Amino acid sequence: MDGTQLAAVILAAGKGTRMRSEQPKVLHPVAGWPMVAYPTRLAGQLGCRPTVLVVGHGADRVRETLADQEVRFALQAEQLGTGHALLCAQSALTGFAGTLLLLCGDVPLLRRETLAQLVARHQACGAAATVLTAELADPFGYGRVLRQGEEVLGIVEQKDATPEQQAIREINTGIYAFEAPLVFNLLEGLNCDNAQGEYYLTDVLAAARAAGRKVAAVTLAEATEAMGINDRVQLAEASAIMRRRINEAHMRDGVTLMDPACTYIDPQVEIGPDTVLHAGVHLCGATRIGRDCTIEPHAVVRDCQIGDGVRIKAASVLEGSQVGEATDIGPMAHLRPGTVLAGHNKIGNFVETKKALIGVGTKASHLTYIGDAELGANVNVGCGTITCNYDGVNKHKTVIEDDVFVGSDTQFVAPVRIGRNSLVAAGTTVTKDVPADSLVLSRVPQKIIEGWRLRAGKKEQKCSE
Ligand code: UD1
Ligand code: CA
Repeated sequence: MDGTQLAAVILAAGKGTRMRSEQPKVLHPVAGWPMVAYPTRLAGQLGCRPTVLVVGHGADRVRETLADQEVRFALQAEQLGTGHALLCAQSALTGFAGTLLLLCGDVPLLRRETLAQLVARHQACGAAATVLTAELADPFGYGRVLRQGEEVLGIVEQKDATPEQQAIREINTGIYAFEAPLVFNLLEGLNCDNAQGEYYLTDVLAAARAAGRKVAAVTLAEATEAMGINDRVQLAEASAIMRRRINEAHMRDGVTLMDPACTYIDPQVEIGPDTVLHAGVHLCGATRIGRDCTIEPHAVVRDCQIGDGVRIKAASVLEGSQVGEATDIGPMAHLRPGTVLAGHNKIGNFVETKKALIGVGTKASHLTYIGDAELGANVNVGCGTITCNYDGVNKHKTVIEDDVFVGSDTQFVAPVRIGRNSLVAAGTTVTKDVPADSLVLSRVPQKIIEGWRLRAGKKEQKCSE
């Protein structure tokens, strides 16, 4: 792209009435990301500086959601049309001269290569405006592209089109490359003298020609790329297409998906080769999975780093956790944020962990809660062990040093520390620190009263007499 400056404007002010939602349309997720994040990422990948997001309906929520992105915001307080929307971005682009990409916040499927092609064509033919078009079997509702041979004359909206123009099947996708600042001068000359009483961005094309400048077009090979989302049916369709793209990329990179149609992977998830994902797996957020892992049906993994050779068994839920290599988790385990497993661990069924640092080789195989805890290496946590970390006001920490054996049905009333190589007898309630190499037990001595059942039987007979 020969050093020409690039910037982008993303239109995202519209209401999206047909979504029937309290949430701004562009924040509805497509394959795990708010749809506006896709054109935003695209602009970043192409090196647009700056990217300006035109917001209106639900502006604050859109700003909040994209707060960590490198974008500027421009407010379109009243939605007076697409031409007006671009004008609202003008002051955010003061001093910019070059190619201005115009993208839509509700068009998430556009590919990077397509946009690069649009920019290349625009710059190669020295056009004032280049429009991305598509051929549709049913063009109803879209602006139609008016041509004279190869030359693009302009665009006419559905509501303003003559019957002959309505028969045209080449439509305006609403994506363009413009020469800036020229496009703003052209916009200032527009009026809203049309069927919808709006300022049409599309009128810029005819205006450019009237000014003696060239208008070009690039036609999409695959029209679905420019699919705009207006309702929840289209939202589901776009999600399915995006998921298929993501899943295919992982399969090409060496990941096995047992049932790609039922595997849900967010866009920025990374997965190592030879990992196998079973049906119904959800990998969400900023998750990284190592190589040679197996993730069984209906596991949900969000914002986690998972090492190599890890097995996550069915229906486990992992959030904000780090899992070291060769670890076995689940089935039905719950790793909550702040869990860090060093590796070679076993976290079995119905085990919940939270803010827990767990050393190499340590195992908790069944029915356990480990919260606000630090466990050393090679600790064996028996069935039914509970860290009592909360006194109703504050959280307290349990520390269990290396090589401790914890018998079943133990409670650790935190804060408490168990020294290395100690043994906690089954059924113990630990309330005080235990030095290394000790046995700790707290049990009411077992009492046996022989003949109890016989005596109880006599009592009952008495009562009923
Ligand atoms: C527009 C095009 C039409 C094209 C179609 C493709 C015009 C006049 N028409 O039509 O040729 O075929 O897109 O989908 O441009 N928006 C704002 N502020 C506004 C109006 C719209 O930000 O005042 C945003 C919307 O949120 C949306 C985009 O611009 O992201 C397109 O607006 P929309 O109303 O869907 O345009 P159409 O009338 O469908
Ligand atoms: Ca409209």
